[in-house]
Amino acid sequence: MKHVRVLFGLAVAGTLAGGLAGCAGTGMGDGSDTAVAALASKSGTVTQGSVTFTQRGNTVLVKADVTGLPPNTEHGFHVHEKGDCSTPDAMSAGGHFNPTAKPHGSMSMPDHHAGDINNLKADASGRAQASFELADVTVAPGPNSVVGRAVVVHKDPDDYKTQPTGNSGGRIACGVIAKS
Ligand code: CU
Ligand code: ZN
Repeated sequence: MKHVRVLFGLAVAGTLAGGLAGCAGTGMGDGSDTAVAALASKSGTVTQGSVTFTQRGNTVLVKADVTGLPPNTEHGFHVHEKGDCSTPDAMSAGGHFNPTAKPHGSMSMPDHHAGDINNLKADASGRAQASFELADVTVAPGPNSVVGRAVVVHKDPDDYKTQPTGNSGGRIACGVIAKS
């Protein structure tokens, strides 16, 4: 009887510890940390869509579904530092999210902004659907969290080398990233 009681006590303690770790937002993720941005048209375009960010262990899965792009084109796509899409040109979202003070680049380069994502590619109907894994951001609270930032689609492709923007031109859609 005594033995059973000890085991029960351990099980309760384990559950409590697990719950507390979850609340503390360690970012080590059980997949429950998700944030969403609704992309609104900017700079006089009809581009819109949605982007979800889901914590998967140490990386964040980004899923984008964007419509209203010119057919068969590529577009720079980044997390920007300010969660403010209020101006008509979306310049209110500031520069690329760069909490670790790195140069601009592509996701596959050793050095790149945490908010750098690869180009979106529109199909013949002007729709881009893509998934990416970001290694340097979190959904959970912390210095690298994307929550409260913005995600931006640009008019032109990112060249992955021009500093600090990738030379991807104007901002044609913008959405604030919010915990869902
Ligand atoms: Cu951008
Ligand atoms: Zn960048």
